[in-house]
Amino acid sequence: MIDLRSDTVTKPTDEMRRVMASAEVDDDVLGHDPTVQRLEEQTAEILGKDAALFVPSGSMANQIALKTQTTAGDEVIMEAQCHMYWYEAGAPAAISGVMCQLIAGQRGLFTGDDLRGALRTPDVHFARTTLVCVEDTHNRGGGSVWPIEQIADVAAAAREAGLKLHLDGARLWNAAAASGVNEAEHAKYFDSVAVCFSKALGAPVGSAIAGDADFIAEARRFRKMFGGGMRQAGIIAAGAIYALENNRDRIADDHANAKRLAEGLAEIDGIEIDPATVETNLVYFRVTTIPAADLVEGLDAEGIALLGGNGSLRAVPNMMTSRDDIDTTLKAVAKIMKG
Ligand SMILES: Cc1ncc(COP(=O)(O)O)c(C=O)c1O
Repeated sequence: MIDLRSDTVTKPTDEMRRVMASAEVDDDVLGHDPTVQRLEEQTAEILGKDAALFVPSGSMANQIALKTQTTAGDEVIMEAQCHMYWYEAGAPAAISGVMCQLIAGQRGLFTGDDLRGALRTPDVHFARTTLVCVEDTHNRGGGSVWPIEQIADVAAAAREAGLKLHLDGARLWNAAAASGVNEAEHAKYFDSVAVCFSKALGAPVGSAIAGDADFIAEARRFRKMFGGGMRQAGIIAAGAIYALENNRDRIADDHANAKRLAEGLAEIDGIEIDPATVETNLVYFRVTTIPAADLVEGLDAEGIALLGGNGSLRAVPNMMTSRDDIDTTLKAVAKIMKG
């Protein structure tokens, strides 16, 4: 099976499982799990923040950050295609009672002037705007990476208006690998940063949020409220530590495989893709001559899985994908498209 559905499909390696099985644990809700504490310290250090908090998922990380930094009735500004708006089950409205104002970006990215254009003057009629969210890399934007100057530009516009900034960095590791600008350089513009260990890094479970000490203290309370307090969580935190220490350096391999896949797909009649837009590990493409579902089914019969989404198909080379798998996939796509 060649599984290209997502970077979340990876299975822990034998070595990762061994490390997890032997992790030292205690009750983390009581604040005593040494392995969770080690992961939180390492994450905070990588992100250049005071502290971090281990949480079960990226969605919970984002939603805790929203809840901690807003009051019901506030307005939060985010890009129109972002994960927090599309794929978190309406949580900003349901959990924090905030309204989202959406900025239409270019492949998920927007500018400081776009943000200025979305701001309102203080007026009793208007919701109070308190937070701006950025997603890097941007999932529905095609794994696009924010140039650091553009983050600085948006941050400057947000600060002028007295707004806080949150980074959905579920794939910040990919952004850092692709841009050569490290995670802390990205994170320094934001009050809160969410990162995932269970995507490109290959851990089975877990995400974190990072920020200053007061933010994390409040976030810890909301994690409990959301049901995200976990007891002997060191078992899964150990997988995340292993992933951080061993799998960050290999992310460039996924990007190279994604580029190779995109370039090969561009050669096949009936497939529409611009390989230049593939900056990281997400490869979105369109099928123009047969129904996309036929291609997905045909590939499935060959033991190759990918996903439909965003009006297109998505393939995500991941830790379990070899260069040979990419070539096998390209051959299978070419055969099916020929009919
Ligand atoms: C950009 C982005 N943010 C957040 C998430 C949420 O992560 P989780 O599935 O762990 O809730 C995802 C999941 O794919 C994502 O792509």
